[in-house]
Amino acid sequence: MPAANPAGDPALGLGVGLRNVHFEHILRNWPAVDWFEAISENFIDSGGRPRMVLRRIAERYPIVLHGVSLSIGSTDPLNVRYLRRLKRLADEIGARWVSDHLCWTGVLGLNSHDLLPLPLNEAVLEHVAARVRQVQDILERPLVLENPSTYVRFRASTWDEPAFLRALCEATNCRLLLDVNNVYVSCFNAGSDPLAYLDAFPFERVVQLHLAGHQHCGTHIVDTHDRAVSAQVWELFRIAWQRTSGASTLLEWDGNVPPFQTLHNEVLHARAVIGGASKDSLATVAAVDAEAINSAREAASTPIDFLLPAVMSQRTWSPA
Ligand SMILES: [Fe+2]
Repeated sequence: MPAANPAGDPALGLGVGLRNVHFEHILRNWPAVDWFEAISENFIDSGGRPRMVLRRIAERYPIVLHGVSLSIGSTDPLNVRYLRRLKRLADEIGARWVSDHLCWTGVLGLNSHDLLPLPLNEAVLEHVAARVRQVQDILERPLVLENPSTYVRFRASTWDEPAFLRALCEATNCRLLLDVNNVYVSCFNAGSDPLAYLDAFPFERVVQLHLAGHQHCGTHIVDTHDRAVSAQVWELFRIAWQRTSGASTLLEWDGNVPPFQTLHNEVLHARAVIGGASKDSLATVAAVDAEAINSAREAASTPIDFLLPAVMSQRTWSPA
């Protein structure tokens, strides 16, 4: 199997996020998917059917575990019980790697159920690096961390995200999951250049790429994972993929989940994108952006009205 980076991590091909609505289809048809990514939390506590299904799927396909509750940036102690159970699950299914996000999800025992951004500076690097080392000691494998989608930046940040992730990798030997949709979303929301982001990114540490759909609200973009990948994100993917040694690529689709074949066809579009590699810059992307912004402005004159009620209604604060 080819390697995705100089560290020799395997390149698995084009994968699909494993969702329980597709269990029956997969078990009946064993579709020609290269690999699956399973959400760790959906299986970690399950001794029942979901875990049995995952074990059966793992007998035929490479599986990667992707978590959402590690909270590597929090000041709360790491949840060692969670990490031990995660290791048990990873060992049981032979997970190729285990990933989570560069974020924090709660503090003082409260869970925000959200992937919250961190200020990026020396003190946070030291804090996160110590926690990554602790996680890797328990998991007995390198941790893979993903760039989150963000909507704010902190005055306390002294580094940009690629520089922070590079330093974190050097300090801990962790690996990276580059979500190109998150790059596009975060850069648009911050008014920064996604190509400059990619130029600065430590591709030699990348194990995996994520693709997903988003909702363009004119003044900002929301990372919704509920639709097809945009043309702009495909273009970023084409550029990013070329800078890896063919990193494993995964499509995330979590809302309005379509039939399995639609998902699979969407990620297979990556083959055409990779194969048809023109050397266009994002000049065309900028043009599409302007078009999207104009049409979104017509549809939503006050986009924050769209955002806030949804956020408030979904937020449930509860003891961890
Ligand atoms: Fe992602």
